[in-house]
Amino acid sequence: MRFPHDVPVLTDGTVTLRAHRPDDALGVLEQCVDPLSRQWTTVPVPYTRADAEAFVAERVPAGWAAGAWAFAVEAADEDGHGRFCGTVELRDEGNRRAEIAFGAHPWARGRGLVERALRLLLEWGFTERRLRTVVWWANVGNWASRRTAWRLGFGCDGTLARWLPQRGDLLDAWVGVLHVDDPRGPRHAWLRAPELAGERVTLRPLRDGDVPRIVEACSDARTAQWLRMPAPYTEDHARAWLLQTREESAAGTAVTWALTERDSDLLVGALNAFAVKPRREAEVGYWSHPDGRGRGLMTQACRLVVAHCFTAYDAGGLGLVRLHAGAAVGNTASQHVLEAAGFTRVGRERRALGLGDGSLADCLTYDQLLEEHGEGHGG
Ligand SMILES: CC(C)(COP(=O)(O)OP(=O)(O)OC[C@H]1O[C@@H](n2cnc3c(N)ncnc32)[C@H](O)[C@@H]1OP(=O)(O)O)[C@@H](O)C(=O)NCCC(=O)NCCS
Repeated sequence: MRFPHDVPVLTDGTVTLRAHRPDDALGVLEQCVDPLSRQWTTVPVPYTRADAEAFVAERVPAGWAAGAWAFAVEAADEDGHGRFCGTVELRDEGNRRAEIAFGAHPWARGRGLVERALRLLLEWGFTERRLRTVVWWANVGNWASRRTAWRLGFGCDGTLARWLPQRGDLLDAWVGVLHVDDPRGPRHAWLRAPELAGERVTLRPLRDGDVPRIVEACSDARTAQWLRMPAPYTEDHARAWLLQTREESAAGTAVTWALTERDSDLLVGALNAFAVKPRREAEVGYWSHPDGRGRGLMTQACRLVVAHCFTAYDAGGLGLVRLHAGAAVGNTASQHVLEAAGFTRVGRERRALGLGDGSLADCLTYDQLLEEHGEGHGG
């Protein structure tokens, strides 16, 4: 395809996709020296005005001839003047497949403009270029990109270790696809951990700053034994676990909270509702930092998690009808927490739990139904 003659103008009334022009160079420069662009894309560092001019005058036109269909994104600023908002692109991969790529000018972020631009781009690709499958790649940790892809209907099909090149390194990559016949909206809920307040405890989302406390808690002998933690438990383990909890939330399969005492921000435990099956059930799990034991904090926190899980989805809860949990025979503290939070012991799975010392323990299984919640201890 020839540039700019064959580049269509696509608009939804708010956002317009069009061929790049020489006067986009300043916007391209501002975008490419921005820290987020540097962190999450392969823009050269340093990036100069000459690089930006070459991008609009040479790279984009050459790309159109070679199957890299890049559009400038334009939208009106506060005064109603059209301004450069970034670049969105489909890269032809043959066999009616393409890769999607996008980057926003810092001014344009957080306004929903990129999502609009990508919807226009995808519909053009699926109809005019007759694409069947579009693939999305992002460096692991690029949550703005992942959420954008999720909104558009992409799945996140997994992580490829050391796959995406960036300035000499190979970085872990998320990958997902959107097919021509897929719905163009989220495939599943993206769960969040709302703040939950009890009389003596607060549950809040986990933060990077919790890493040292997570290391302390998971290095503790009791936690290591009952939950079979890696030993030694390092900051890398804690960071990997934090990433895992965020990925599970994004995939709609778990919600994880930090437990703190009401008047403090210091983590004294963690709880989660995991293996979520929407509208049905989840499993509840937890561990306490040694500072948080022996004062009934986990029991109160577990009740808050149970209440959140049984609260209707439209009212901000998970809208589940059943919760289940397990505790090793011998882990009396955990059994007590479950019973005090309204769970009923329903069975025993023999030799089902691997412990820190390498032994296998029987697992006592518990569950709780929506209709039981609020009766007795659960409320
Ligand atoms: C990716 C990008 C184009 C998205 O633009 P945008 O949609 O205008 O950006 P937003 O700031 O609105 O972020 C999109 C969503 O991600 C969310 N998000 C951003 N950072 C997040 C984080 N660290 N954790 C969780 N969510 C995050 C935002 O809250 C927003 O969610 P919402 O849709 O519910 O409001 C823009 O962030 C960008 O230019 N990044 C640098 C280039 C890049 O990463 N390109 C993609 C390469 S794969």
